[in-house]
Amino acid sequence: MYDYIIVGAGIAGLYASLNIPADKKVLILSKEPVWECNTFYAQGGVATAVDEEDIPSHIQDTLAAGAGLCDPKAVEILSRNSLLVVEDLIARGFEFDKDEEGHLLFTKEAAHSRARILHAGGDATGRELHRFLLRNSPAKLVEGVEVIDLLIEDGVCHGVRVRKGGEQSDIYAKYVLLASGGIGSLYAYHTNATTISADLQGLAALRGIELKDMEFTQFHPTVFVHSKRAQKLLLTEALRGEGATVVDEENRRFLFDYDPRGELAPRDIVSRAIYRHQKEGHSVYLDFSNFSEEFFKKRFPTIYHKFRNLGFYVPYDKVPISPAFHFMMGGIKTDVWGRVPKVRYLYAIGEVACTGVHGANRLASNSLLEGLVFSRRAIEDTLLQKREVPIKSFQKSPITLMLPKDSDFKHRLRSIMWQKVGIIRKKSELKEALEEIEQMQKEPIGYLLKLRLSCAKQIVQSALRRDKSIGAHYIEGE
Ligand code: SIN
Repeated sequence: MYDYIIVGAGIAGLYASLNIPADKKVLILSKEPVWECNTFYAQGGVATAVDEEDIPSHIQDTLAAGAGLCDPKAVEILSRNSLLVVEDLIARGFEFDKDEEGHLLFTKEAAHSRARILHAGGDATGRELHRFLLRNSPAKLVEGVEVIDLLIEDGVCHGVRVRKGGEQSDIYAKYVLLASGGIGSLYAYHTNATTISADLQGLAALRGIELKDMEFTQFHPTVFVHSKRAQKLLLTEALRGEGATVVDEENRRFLFDYDPRGELAPRDIVSRAIYRHQKEGHSVYLDFSNFSEEFFKKRFPTIYHKFRNLGFYVPYDKVPISPAFHFMMGGIKTDVWGRVPKVRYLYAIGEVACTGVHGANRLASNSLLEGLVFSRRAIEDTLLQKREVPIKSFQKSPITLMLPKDSDFKHRLRSIMWQKVGIIRKKSELKEALEEIEQMQKEPIGYLLKLRLSCAKQIVQSALRRDKSIGAHYIEGE
């Protein structure tokens, strides 16, 4: 029995735990070792209004990226609170990168009208933040726990049902916060942690909890995809923000054929341009020749070392790139306090949630910010409530998490999602994807695959409902 259960140990879950009063009993559940989360892999940084005067412009850039589908109230909350959460992190001792005079360094990423991205450890912002939050979180954290159900009755959430080491048990809490991240592992190529497999979105779908904006799946344009695993290596947007260029085998900066902003066009435009150029038979590379080696090594140390280890003599060598799935704009629908409608005491925060801040396309580096702002607000909201200790007990029903053939189905699903529910979509292919998913749902499959499939089905159905291209949902032909 806890005051709070937090499902997920990325930025949203950990920062939520830091904002809970010390006398509360808090449990964080992590499916795998705690660093296997998207926060850990985030390179670029935390977008923030630079000062009060920059708020309208940050709001405007966010709304423009979202292609008219953001919730303006949520966006205003995001930007207005950005200064507060950044100050709070700094006051708690977190160190963003600074110049020699001690001023914060802001970088620029695509579709931002000015440099406003804070970073840490050069290109290791996520890793630094994650380590800092883990070190400072007072909560009890348990790894290797799979949340398999939410204990909900009559519109009230009482806790979660979990599996750990083959044992199933129920854990009760006054407040449950879902902070389990996105859906990367549904796609054949993605930049996400390997654990990010749409479990709770799938569970929400099975439980009749509303998912929103599920057709809006974001693809990152600059990813090194030549590796065996589905998880691919990201080359941060900040590289382009600071001067890296996208070229083809003839060294031509072909992005300008597609958009006058070239490398700094929004990432859906850049992803589509690269995808099309590759389909026409070209090879595409990220070129760092605008950087000196000294600057590159200091500013992008993770990328420098990773690619030197892979045999690329960066910044002198170009790196072959492709787009890959990166971020889920949609998710479990919440209000601007992270509350899940129609289920009292249940909250969703971070990438698993759809607060409405991203609309049809997320502005670069607004995701870590969203995790910070809305986790803090969710906790603020719980502190205004007076919840009695839950005393319900729920009937147990045994489940089989995995079956031997699941792995084949999982790979089939990934390839369907990549080919038919990807960067450029056709109605006919979306229909085929739906049929194939429904076919797999009829097979004898394990529970975890069932969750993946039910989330994938929501994505495809949402995509089928939207006839026109908008933001990251791009429809071409029948
Ligand atoms: C990046 O570093 O390019 C990713 C940042 C983001 O996804 O916002």
